[in-house]
Amino acid sequence: AIDPKFEENRDVAEQHEDHRVWGPVDEPEQLGIHGTHVAVDFDICIADGACLEDCPVDVFEWTDTPDHPESEIKADPAREEQCIDCMLCVDVCPVDAIDVDPG
Ligand code: SF4
Ligand code: F3S
Ligand code: ZN
Repeated sequence: AIDPKFEENRDVAEQHEDHRVWGPVDEPEQLGIHGTHVAVDFDICIADGACLEDCPVDVFEWTDTPDHPESEIKADPAREEQCIDCMLCVDVCPVDAIDVDPG
C-alpha cells in the first residue's frame, strides 16, 4: 500500500504537469508517487480504473507509463485541486495505491 507518510519519507523528484512527483524515480521501472493532496503511488497502481470511474469531480486521467512492470497506464491526479475529500477513490482502489489527506 501507499505510504501515508510519504511527505516525510520521500523527496520531491520532479513536477509532472501541475503536480509534484515524490521519488525515487528511475524510469521506466520506478515512477514514484504523483500528487500530494491526492497521491497515487505509480509503482503500486495496476490500472484497475475504479478511481477514474468513481471520482465525482474527475480528478484523475490516464497517463502512459510504457514498460512499467505493474501496468502501462496509470491514474494521474491531474486535477487534485478539485478533490472534495469524499475518499471514494481510496476505498475502491484494489491495491491501496491512493492516499487522500483532507485538511
Ligand atoms: Fe475524487 Fe473523492 Fe478521491 Fe477526491 S477523494 S480524488 S473527490 S474520489
Ligand atoms: Fe490504479 Fe487503483 Fe486507480 S489500481 S487506476 S489507482 S483504482
Ligand atoms: Zn502525474
